[in-house]
Order: sequence, then structure tokens, then C-alpha cells
Amino acid sequence: MSVPFNFAPAISAALDEAAASLEWDAAVFAPDVRTADPRHGDFQANGVLPYAKRSRQNPRALAEQLVGALPASITGACEVAVAGPGFLNFTLKPTTLEAWLEAFADEDSLRQGAKSGQPEAGKVFIVDYSAPNTAKQMHVGHLRSAVIGEAISRLLDFSGARVIRDNHIGDWGTGFGKLIWAYKRELDATALESDPLEEFERLYKVGNQAADEDESVLAEARQELVKLQSGDKENLAIWRRINEVSLTAFQEIYDQLGIKFDYTLGESFYNDKVGQVYEELTAAGLARESQGALVVFHPEHPKFKKQPFLIRKSDGAANYASTDLATLLYRREHFDADAVIYVIDSRQSDHCQQLFLTTEKWFTQTNRAVPRMEHTSFGTVLGENNKPLKTRSGENIKLRELLAEATERAARLVAEKSADLSAAEQAEIAAVVGVGSVQYADLCQNRSTDYVFSWDKMISLEGNTAAYLLYAIARIRSIFRKLDRDPAASTGGAEASGLETSTEIALARKLAKFPEALSGAVGPLRPHVLCLYLYELAGEFSAFYTADKVSVEDPAIRERRLRLCARTLLLLETGLGLLGLRTLERM
Ligand code: ARG
Repeated sequence: MSVPFNFAPAISAALDEAAASLEWDAAVFAPDVRTADPRHGDFQANGVLPYAKRSRQNPRALAEQLVGALPASITGACEVAVAGPGFLNFTLKPTTLEAWLEAFADEDSLRQGAKSGQPEAGKVFIVDYSAPNTAKQMHVGHLRSAVIGEAISRLLDFSGARVIRDNHIGDWGTGFGKLIWAYKRELDATALESDPLEEFERLYKVGNQAADEDESVLAEARQELVKLQSGDKENLAIWRRINEVSLTAFQEIYDQLGIKFDYTLGESFYNDKVGQVYEELTAAGLARESQGALVVFHPEHPKFKKQPFLIRKSDGAANYASTDLATLLYRREHFDADAVIYVIDSRQSDHCQQLFLTTEKWFTQTNRAVPRMEHTSFGTVLGENNKPLKTRSGENIKLRELLAEATERAARLVAEKSADLSAAEQAEIAAVVGVGSVQYADLCQNRSTDYVFSWDKMISLEGNTAAYLLYAIARIRSIFRKLDRDPAASTGGAEASGLETSTEIALARKLAKFPEALSGAVGPLRPHVLCLYLYELAGEFSAFYTADKVSVEDPAIRERRLRLCARTLLLLETGLGLLGLRTLERM
């Protein structure tokens, strides 16, 4: 039997076909297939009711007719029942589940399946994430963009999109004037040697304070900035040095989080590209001068008809908006972007809205394709006091220290639970569990909301946590180890008997829902949908493993159960990999 990767679209297409054979009006009938409450079936189609209403017919009778007209491909694969006033319930038959488990037995076939139905497949997606400002260390406020952006990139890539990861670092701010001013006067060479980023941060504070207190310092700092902008050799060299050091420090964090950018085109890359933006937007009648600045109003918008998008400052300098406009043009023309995804916190929602509105008008007027532009926004990481997470003394928590603490705390858990493993193994496990817990705690929340950062909840073997899922993986791996079998080698096949027990069938049904979880996460760019699925899958596995012994004498039973173990393992590992986590053989 040829089995679809994702059943919902297949059922939907079959319903359309059946409706056409009954000459139902295709403009009115929409199948509306979704995953069902497992007590009623695997999928439910709700489209008959609205159709019956519009055509003033009895919905149950229509539903019966539609079922009668379904093609054999669907009636062979599912039990179909009419329920309530005219819903259709589809339950995958055990043989269908077995065929699915046979067809999607490794990551490659899952990837092929995932590509086949996704609208994202083949499209160029630029994912703009992380993007910290240089000369400062990354702190907890930089966590979410990095973690969510990486997961989204992996999910899109798995669905067949051509993903370009671009780190739009802030490497060209007005802050450089003050920083260079202080660098030239207050540099501590030893500190620079031992922890350069720390020293830059100190220098910035020194420069900032001096400029605040003394007008003449402020004027000198401005002068340093002007020199930098006009290409002064000395200032450019300092600026370069600061950015290099910053990028090296960022990279250490990225390595721990499994992040690899394809490009790091920071704001400075667009210095020579903003002129075109001013010209085109002015020529298109979108931008106009206002008190020396260049601004874009959106008269049709309730807010932005009064609050303009400032795209050039009155002193003639470019700003965040002008570089972002130039970036969009570059992404469209140079990379042929079909979509640009901005993983930026929700406080920049006005900026993104104005950027997108302006670009849409600009590109339309200049006969350019308008890419899909999306602000994939997220809330704040809060402390236990429900305020943005800070250290006791009110400083931002450095990401480097946060990840180190995570690893340390995980090490305590590992020492307790896996005392039998060697110190080296324990250290490796602690790193994966520690960093993975931080990533997962962030991803398993709906990204739109704030969340409270809690070490105890996130590094725990209970609940929807990384450790719980990593442990489930390690447990399945140990089943195979004890039988001296390779989980990646073929299981099931001809040797296996058909699925029988209710726990086997429940687990198989959950496994076959992976495609729904995947598209549920990729479509709206919400990784928590996949997290929830993995958590529920691990739960179904637990129930199965408690009820059904795997290493039994009867090879037919053993093989079919081993196949369930192998596929659960495959989906848990693939799923966590898509979220950006590393996984473990043992724990
Ligand atoms: N550097 C910015 C910040 O720290 C984020 C940049 C996000 N990307 C963009 N294209 N605007 O707020």
C-alpha cells in the first residue's frame, strides 16, 4: 500500500474528489479536516455541516452520501464513520499504521515526506535571528531570538525550504563614538588581553558617563564617530577590532547552542546601500523631508498616519530603519528571498510593521516581488518576581554564565542519577542536558508570551522538559543495547505480526501524527507545537512500555514491538534535533 506521509491532506483531497463526483458546488464545500480527539478517531472532517446549511439539505444524509462516494484509497486505509449531526470521523486501520511505520523508517524518508506537502518547500527563506549588538556581551535578553530562530531555521529546512541564516548584528551604532573616545584614553591593556569584551563594555560605560557629565567630551565623541563614518584609518581599525572580538565571543555561545550562520551581514554592510533607499522612496512619493529628517507616513494606518517611520536622521545619518530597508532590498535582489523571517522580541513590533508596510508599497511601485515578511515575535524571560530576569544586583545575566550554570546544575542531577558512569561521560551528559534544558524551556512555551525562568522546573526529569525527553531516548537506546540490536537497522518488516494491543495501537497512532505536529509548528513558526507533540509521544511510549513487554520469546511480537521502539526513538531524536538540541545515547 502506498501510504501518505501526512494523512490530513490526503483525506482532504479524497473528500474533494468525492464531493466533485456528487457534483457538489466546489466553491461552497470545503472539507475542513483536522486532527481529532483520539477517542473519536484520528481525523475529523467538519465541512459537511456548513455545506448542508448553505444548500438547505440534511447534513447527516449528505455525510452518508459523501462517505459512499469516497475513493477506495481512503476507505481502505481508514474506518470512516458519520458522527453527531454530520461530522466525519476517520480512524487509521492498524494495517495503515503498520504501512506508515514501514514507509517512514529513517530521517531521510521523514524529510522526503515532510517536503512533499509543505508550501514552504523550495522557497528561499531568510531567517534573521540572534543579531546582538557588538561591543557588548550577549545576555539573557538575547537567548530567545537565538534559540527560537535556530529551531525555526531547522524546521523550515526540514520542510524543504532553502534556508539562509543571516546574523544582522548591530555593528554600526552611534555608541561607537563614545567607545572609541574612551578606548583612546582609558584602555586597560591587561584587561583587554584577558577579557576584551568585558573591557569594551567598561570603556563604553566610561565614555558614556564622561559624555553625560561634560559637553566637550560629548562633542569629542561625536567627532570620533564622524571620523569613523568618513573612513579614518585609526578609528576604523579600533572598530574592526571591537567587532572581531565580539564575534568571537558570540561564536562561543553559538557553538553551545548548535547555531551556524550562513552570513553575518551586520548593519555596517549596508552603509553604502542606504542612498538608493532614500532616492527610491522619495521618487516613489513615499518618503518626504520633515524638519531635516526623511520620514515615511502611512496615512491609511490608524497609528502610523501620525507616527512616521524615520528613515534618515536630521544630521543626515542612516539609522536602524534605513539599514533595515536596505537589507530587505538586498535580500530580495541578491538572495531572491521569497520570505524574510524576523525573530525579534515583541517590543520592536512598531518598527517591523512600519518596515513591512513601507517595503510592500515600495516594492509594489517598483515592480519587485514582495516577499512574505514576518515578525516572529516573542515575549520576555522573567524572573521568579515576574519582572525581566536580572541578577540580584539588577544587572543583565550574561548568557555565557547562564549556560555555565545550567551545565553545573545538570551535572548535579547527573551525578545523582547516573553515578555509575565515568566522569567524562557525566560531563558530556551534563552539557547536553544543561544547555538543552535552557533551549527546551524556551521553546516549549508559546513564543508570544513571557515566561518565568525556573531552574528547578527546567532541569527536571518530570514534566515537559528536555531531561524527560532525553531520558526517554536513553531508555529506548538501552532496550536495543540489551538485545544487542541496532535501532537504525531494520525492525518489523516481514517478521513482525500485526499491531494488536490497545497500547501498541495508541502509540502507533501517535507516531503517525508527527507530520501534523511538524506542519503545525512550521506553518505559524511555532516550535512549541512540536515540543508538545514530543512530550505526548514520550507519554504514549511510557504507557506502551509499561503494558507490553518488548523482549519476549515470540519473534513476531518482539519485532513489531521493537519497531514501535525504533520509530519512537527516531521521532524523538529527529524532533529534538529540529529544535536545536543534542541528544544522548545514555543518561
Ligand atoms: N540588533 C538589534 C537589537 O539588538 C536586532 C536586529 C534584528 N534584525 C533586524 N533586521 N532588525 O535590537
